Amino acid sequence: AELREQSAARQVVLHRGLKVWLVGRYDEARFVLADPRFSKEFSGFEELFDKHHVGEGDRARFDQSLVQHMLNSDPPNHTRLRKLVSKAFTARRVEQLRPRIQQITDELLDAVAGQAEVDLVDALAFPLPITVICELLDVPMDDRDDFRRWSNILVGGDEPAAVEEAGGAMAAFLSRLVEHKRANPGDDIFSALVHATDDNDRLDHTELVSMAFLLLIAGHETTVNLIANGVHNLLLHPEQLDKLRSDPTLLPGAIEEFLRYEGPVNQATFRYTTEDVVVGDVTIPAGEIVLASLIAANRDERRFPDAESFDITRPSGGHLAFGHGVHYCVGAPLARLEGQIAVGALLDRYDIGLAAAPETLRWRSSTLMRGLYTLPISLS
Ligand code: HEM
Repeated sequence: AELREQSAARQVVLHRGLKVWLVGRYDEARFVLADPRFSKEFSGFEELFDKHHVGEGDRARFDQSLVQHMLNSDPPNHTRLRKLVSKAFTARRVEQLRPRIQQITDELLDAVAGQAEVDLVDALAFPLPITVICELLDVPMDDRDDFRRWSNILVGGDEPAAVEEAGGAMAAFLSRLVEHKRANPGDDIFSALVHATDDNDRLDHTELVSMAFLLLIAGHETTVNLIANGVHNLLLHPEQLDKLRSDPTLLPGAIEEFLRYEGPVNQATFRYTTEDVVVGDVTIPAGEIVLASLIAANRDERRFPDAESFDITRPSGGHLAFGHGVHYCVGAPLARLEGQIAVGALLDRYDIGLAAAPETLRWRSSTLMRGLYTLPISLS
């Protein structure tokens, strides 16, 4: 709120001393997300990260084979990388997954039947999306624990040495997986990418490793927070929970309000200015790193009246929780469907209550992600 009131953009120092411009108003955040003068091309970042780091030697180097993906590239390379995979995630294709997502959800809820109290993150919010994305890509589930640990370290901005080690392990694991898919094609999205026949669609080995990394990380780190943050907010606002219980047709709108009010992603990923750009009342010089704060923009009164109140019946459309512009989330239809099925089934089967004092809940300390480590709830 303070950022939004003071100016359209302000330079702040982040975790580990990285200087960035933070943009918190809705219109300006939307502008930053879509304007091509804010680049995401990874090759341009290396030098800038060095230039903008206050402390020397305290930044982690990401494994190079994990960074050659669409979220780190501008058109036309971005267009090529996104094309094939986006076909697999259209609303129509994703709708076909409904029975399987419902089945996984039911199995997860069956597994906690009879328990008076569970951690919703562990029981449902985490395993559902990761099972779905692993099935879509046909990634073996045995490696799930390793993958969860590496993923947490990489996204959580751990110590540089830990990040480098986790990145190396992840890259080696995914590289083996690409080789395995090459030799054993299946009927999954990953095989379709590895075996693309059209020259324009073909990705090289490193691009395939990076693509798998991006999709799996997105599957691990985001939808879990949509479900857990959303249920947490319902429990903090019992009148909204009652409303949803008495009218399940409110569910799709409720999911949009979960995303607007406390979405899984705090800030969109880094961009940098390729020239001086005027953002509202501020000129951001060329060569600066910029972050659009999705969580601040989604509570901007100029766009959402009474923005600080959680109201599942409000028109929440137009929120920026999935980003905006060419990098708009590929997985949005899947995440929405998983959220609807998970929350719908949970409320269908159980009366739920918060089983811990809200102030004792631990939030992850990540610049990018907004999420709880655990959400203890009572079931009856
Ligand atoms: C991009 C949010 C789930 C795959 C993005 C971006 C946001 C976002 C904000 C844009 C980042 C930027 O412009 O800097 C979310 C949220 C999710 C979610 C809130 C859950 C509620 C998923 C899932 C998948 C996925 C399940 C996998 C299927 C991607 C990909 C991109 C992306 C591949 C990059 C698109 C591009 O660069 O063109 N997501 N995401 N996301 N997301 Fe998601």
